[in-house]
Parts: sequence; structure tokens; C-alpha cells
Amino acid sequence: MERQRKKSWDQKVLIVKDSFLRARKDAAFASDFYHNLFFLKPKIKDYFIKTDFEHQDKALLRGLEFMMGFLDHSNTNARQQVIRISHSHAHKNMNVHPHDYYYWIEALVLTVKSHDPLWQKDYEYYWRETISYPITFIISQYFSPGDSV
Ligand code: HEM
Repeated sequence: MERQRKKSWDQKVLIVKDSFLRARKDAAFASDFYHNLFFLKPKIKDYFIKTDFEHQDKALLRGLEFMMGFLDHSNTNARQQVIRISHSHAHKNMNVHPHDYYYWIEALVLTVKSHDPLWQKDYEYYWRETISYPITFIISQYFSPGDSV
């Protein structure tokens, strides 16, 4: 039988933040994330045809830091940045299709799992559960009122 899960939101957020801090220490974290993302859905590469990946690797880590600050409402700047990212990725700007975030989460879980030296099986649940909050927020901002088709 599955173990009952008794951790609070704040406890899960702390576990995920610590897991991220350990995983990101590995210099290959961001490039492995993109490797996993493009492996899971090669078509996603089409968004990045003009992208300088040295720059993008840093943007990913920054984006993840903002997400961590968004999770427990501890950081107003992090919240503003996630709101900004939600707009830059929305329909009228980069037009990242909401469905593609499914692969983004899968790639993230795969990457953290292989880079956090203290990874435990339960962490997968905590990562998915916590990260779904900023991701659903970003997806919810995809359309703005008045967007054309
Ligand atoms: C499958 C989902 C996603 C796709 C396809 C995608 C795609 C892109 C693309 C094409 C760029 C521009 C790269 C360039 O400058 O050439 C970009 C920038 C960026 N992305 Fe994403 N992205 C995704 C999800 C996310 C998520 C969930 C985050 C949040 C952590 C994020 C954070 C960023 C940041 C911080 C930048 C730098 C530009 C900015 O600050 O707006 N991305 N993304």
C-alpha cells in the first residue's frame, strides 16, 4: 500500500527548494534539462532556432529561481518575474503552446532526479505537486482578452 502523505505545502516547498539548490550545483544541469526536453518532444526545438544556449541555460536557472520564490509567496520580485515570463511566453508573444509545459515538467523531473545527490523516491511527488502551481499560472495567462486567433 502507498504511504499516507502527511507533509504540509510549506514542508514540500522546502524539500523542493533544497533539492533544486543541490541539483543546480552541477554545471550540466541546464544543458541536461534541454537535452531531456528535446528528447521528450523534438518539435519543441523549433521554438529555439535563434537561441544562444549559453544565455538560455542561465535564463532557465533564473526562471527556476523565480519559480522557487513564487511557491511560498516569500518574494514579490519572484512573483513579478513569473508574471512577466507568463506574458513573454503567451500567445501574442513567444506563443508557447500550453500543452508543451507538460514536457517541460517531465524534463525538469528527469533532470532534477539525476542531479540531486540526495534524491529520494517521494521527491518526484513533491516536485510535480509544487511546480504545477507556477506552471498552471503561466498556462492560465496564455490568452489575453482580445487576442486574435
Ligand atoms: C515548453 C515550455 C517552454 C518553451 C518552449 C520555452 C521557450 C522559450 C524561448 C523560445 C525563449 C526565448 C529564447 C531566446 O532568447 O532565443 C524562452 C526564454 C525564457 N524562458 Fe522559456 N520556454 C518554456 C517554458 C519556460 C518556463 C516554465 C519558464 C519558467 C521558469 C521559462 C523561463 C524562461 C526565461 C526566464 C526566458 C528568458 C526570457 C525571459 O525572461 O522572458 N520558460 N523560453
